[in-house]
Amino acid sequence: MKELIIIKMKKIVINGGRPLKGEVTISGAKNSVVALIPATILADDIVTLDGVPDISDVASLIEIMTIMGAKIERKEDSLIIDPRGVKNMPMPFGKINSLRASYYFYGSLLGRYGQATVGLPGGCDLGPRPIDLHLKAFEAMGAAMTMDGSSMKLATDGKPLQGANIYMDTVSVGATINTILAAVKAEGRTVIENAAREPEIIDVVTLLNNMGAHIRGAGTDIIIIDGVPHLHGTRHQVIPDRIEAGTYIALAAAIGEGIQINNVLYEHLESYIAKLEEMGVRMTISEDSIFVEKQTDLKAIQIKTSPYPGFATDLQQPLTTLMTQAYGESKVVETIYIERFKHCGELQRMGANIEVSTGSASIKGPSSLFGTKVVATDLRCGAAMLVAGLLAEGITEIHDVYHIDRGYAEIDQKLKNLGAVIWRETIERLQRYNNIKEK
Ligand code: EPZ
Repeated sequence: MKELIIIKMKKIVINGGRPLKGEVTISGAKNSVVALIPATILADDIVTLDGVPDISDVASLIEIMTIMGAKIERKEDSLIIDPRGVKNMPMPFGKINSLRASYYFYGSLLGRYGQATVGLPGGCDLGPRPIDLHLKAFEAMGAAMTMDGSSMKLATDGKPLQGANIYMDTVSVGATINTILAAVKAEGRTVIENAAREPEIIDVVTLLNNMGAHIRGAGTDIIIIDGVPHLHGTRHQVIPDRIEAGTYIALAAAIGEGIQINNVLYEHLESYIAKLEEMGVRMTISEDSIFVEKQTDLKAIQIKTSPYPGFATDLQQPLTTLMTQAYGESKVVETIYIERFKHCGELQRMGANIEVSTGSASIKGPSSLFGTKVVATDLRCGAAMLVAGLLAEGITEIHDVYHIDRGYAEIDQKLKNLGAVIWRETIERLQRYNNIKEK
């Protein structure tokens, strides 16, 4: 018997079209911290992470690690993690599939115990999210994969993991980091070829080397890991979130009257900033901040996403909103997630002139956007909707805001501090509740 239940959700409401100005400080990087937290399982002592963003992905990881036996204390933006009580146990399925980055427990549990039983990861709906490269690396190091119900079990036959030479057929952030997590305490040397070069990988390697690991080449496409028997505790500052920073830069260029973005590393955004300058966005770049002036007569541009240091796939969605304001026809070619265009349908409902075909979108501008009801279909679509809602005349309602809260810390307050008129309301939604057992 299927029953209907009422669930309470939040929506963000924006009264847009108002120029924003002032300062915003970027938080720690989501795509770094979701690997740093599981990585602490490999330590034989306490690890403190500073600059941890207040986002729901972090809350989920803290919940999972606590269930597993870790002691975690949050002190302002620091996490003090004592991993010594973490048990070698099947992961709690319920939370595991709430975020893709739960796959980092494969590597860290394998690295510590030589086995891991973990539910399959979740994450944004960007099309297929395979983990074949992760599994290929683990199997090369001696861990066999079997399915245990809806969980996947990775285990060696009691022997420690062995170092191996691993070639990544596709450049993969997750597979690169997961292989490093499994390799740091393996016997012998692991060489990763065609490794991803993202700053978040360098951040994870910095933490691990400060815990006593021997890893060289992070940031290049060849990474060498020599296994060590023990990793000790340390303290580590999370790098700033380059995707959050890029989102605020797009916002400042779209509706800003002078916005200073603090805690930004320019070198993490070089390709993005180059494309914004091509559009005619005027920015003043300092050591750890960027000032974005009011923009007029923006020019259409073409972008093509690629692995770091190329144009970040995560930034094509918020930038698409800015492109609706540029004179001419802009083009986005997506080479990493070819289905990553759900935000375009939402922008079209706000008056944007966008045509989507397989793996690309064409944006004709400028268009006047008007407020309406839209849905955050995924995390970075949510970012695009925030920029659009602040830009559009009238009231915009953004639904499924839980996606936004996964990756944008204190988003409401940060936008209010810039002068945005933004608030949240609770809505009730009827939902089929089909877990009721037949009587
Ligand atoms: C990371 O995802 C980020 N997430 C993503 O950010 C980001 O979009 C992506 O890297 C690319 O930069 C986190 O770091 C938690 P990949 P990840 O493995 O590691 C294919 C956001 O918005 N692939 O680098 O899952 C895959 O299909 C999120 O913050 C395989 O074929 O991405 C994709 O086409 C969204 N087999 C390409 O590689 C595998 O085993 C890159 O994926 C793994 C990946």
